Amino acid sequence: MSRLIVVSNRVQAPKGQSAGNQGGLAVALTAALRETAGIWFGWSGETIESFTGEIDFQTHDGVTTATIDLEEQDVEEYYNGYANRTLWPLFHYRVDLAEYERSFAGGYQRVNGRFAELLAPLIEPDDLIWVHDYHMIPLGEELRRHGIANRIGFFLHIPWPPQSLLMSLPDHRELVRSLFAYEVIGFQTEDSLENFRHYILNEIGGEVFEDGTIRVDGRTVQAISCPIGIDTAQFKAAAETGTARYTAYRMRQSAVGRDMIVGVDRLDYSKGLHERFLGYERFLAANPMLHGEVFLLQIAPPSRSDVQSYQEIRATLDGLSGRINGAFADLDWVPIRYVNRGYGRDQLAGIYRSARIGLITPLRDGMNLVAKEYVAAQDPENPGVLILSHFAGAAAQLSDALLVNPHSAEELSDAIQQALTMPRDERIARWRKLMDNVEREDVMWWLNRFTAALTGRPQPVVTAS
Ligand code: G6P
Repeated sequence: MSRLIVVSNRVQAPKGQSAGNQGGLAVALTAALRETAGIWFGWSGETIESFTGEIDFQTHDGVTTATIDLEEQDVEEYYNGYANRTLWPLFHYRVDLAEYERSFAGGYQRVNGRFAELLAPLIEPDDLIWVHDYHMIPLGEELRRHGIANRIGFFLHIPWPPQSLLMSLPDHRELVRSLFAYEVIGFQTEDSLENFRHYILNEIGGEVFEDGTIRVDGRTVQAISCPIGIDTAQFKAAAETGTARYTAYRMRQSAVGRDMIVGVDRLDYSKGLHERFLGYERFLAANPMLHGEVFLLQIAPPSRSDVQSYQEIRATLDGLSGRINGAFADLDWVPIRYVNRGYGRDQLAGIYRSARIGLITPLRDGMNLVAKEYVAAQDPENPGVLILSHFAGAAAQLSDALLVNPHSAEELSDAIQQALTMPRDERIARWRKLMDNVEREDVMWWLNRFTAALTGRPQPVVTAS
């Protein structure tokens, strides 16, 4: 069996940390790496004064990680710059927030070059290479420059934007062309895949074939839609752990009979938190009888705080949550519990299980795994209701949720009301259909589907555990 080499900006393989703190992606990739004795290569997250090119190898639980430190200028131009001030907003349809600086593009190319230079000597002829996400789009091409002829796949975890938006990126053609160094490109949804195809046909005159093959300038790539899932069995089990049960008990105690609505998101403008708070405010204004009967727990750990747009959304939400609480709270009731920190998997599972509504309303999201985790954590006898944005990648699979337009405060308000009064039969019927999908198309399904396309063989890389 070929060794798998995973490359991503962040390395999430276990460094002695317990599996309880790993997300589904890390769990799945770690399993594949263990089974094939592979390597996970990426940035250590550390900044040093000047780049040394030293690789830190560590092996835990049969998985080897190889990480490098980056210098300050790299982090500024590549990570805070091109990745998070240029590509992230643009790919989430926020051209208004995207910043185009040549130094960012230069830093992005330089760091991808550094990754390739250090990774190339570690690669053996039989290895399968799998590159992840928008930080690393040109890595395949850089590896080819170092003579790497292996099969290389690329998976984009975030949306691929429409041609008309992508064209605002000064070097869009070079960036897209670099993708043709890969054998397989995976997108989260048909929608993203369609945007990509449309660009190829209309912007660079490529050819799109029925079997998913795309040809540009004599180079071909297989482009597929391959939605990522969660480790459903593990998350379901997490909701039954002592930690989850204790957390659910704590939530019930503090809720004193009130219904809880929960949202869990990185503090990011793409998550629609501003609009969500406005929708909830509208709900409170429209339903005075429900004051004191319901509350919103919004968990939002801060993210990318060196980037100005993230500082701004944080300040906006501080103000808005304060305003709503000030206007509606009573002596013994606060309508929004707004919490800027993260929680471990088992605690989250307990929180989801005790929430009557999961309110997941991003303005744009590649997939959104919180929606799937919320479903997996529910009590089958008395499940809560998932309210989900049309604009989350997950909406394509989770069409039995209450799907909403997150830009409309009235629609959000109506959906909250509908969810609070939904009869148990309907909750169970909807949940069963949602859970069917979350169980069937889980993270191993995703992994095997992508690697089958990459190897050209249908056998799974990881067998069921
Ligand atoms: C998204 C991206 C990931 C990224 C994560 C956290 O899910 O698709 O690639 O790792 O956000 O963001 P951060 O900048 O902290 O790595």
